[in-house]
Amino acid sequence: FAFTAANQQWVKAQITKYPEGRQASAVIPLLWRAQEQEGWLSRPAIEAVADLLGMAYIRVLEVASFYFMFQLQPVGSVAHIQVCGTTSCMICGAEDLIAVCKEKIAAKPHELSADGKLSWEEVECLGSCTNAPMAQIGKDYYEDLTAESFGKILDDLAAGKVPTPGPQNGRYAAEPLKGLS
Ligand code: FES
Repeated sequence: FAFTAANQQWVKAQITKYPEGRQASAVIPLLWRAQEQEGWLSRPAIEAVADLLGMAYIRVLEVASFYFMFQLQPVGSVAHIQVCGTTSCMICGAEDLIAVCKEKIAAKPHELSADGKLSWEEVECLGSCTNAPMAQIGKDYYEDLTAESFGKILDDLAAGKVPTPGPQNGRYAAEPLKGLS
């Protein structure tokens, strides 16, 4: 793994933001940029970040494996789907969404779909509990999902369409609250 020339410039700028001896503070932005470049974080990518920051590989791996925004296995070429399985979403139907993932993507989390386009996993609370059940796809949230609306989103992604993020039940289509408009 090697950062592209443009990313090397960016990485250098990140590292110089921090005082001498505190370069490890740049670990999350560097991991994120490596993941944006490759789609996921391979061992060589994590080693490269460790070398750039003067950190032990295991320390960088500890960070990368703690946050589920980082992927330690290859992901779908079009999208990686993260279904929230924590309490609010679980009560409101997360299991139905996971069943859709198993049917339309792959039987097990982190496996690629047959065409390599999609992958999925169950994650912990994404902070959108009032719009449960929900899933994160790329940088977007898809909320107030049903098995039907979620299945349509996955079909659209596989067909190369970009589904509209946000609540899928028209929650915000109503009149704005009085006093807030
Ligand atoms: Fe699913 Fe919080 S429980 S977003």
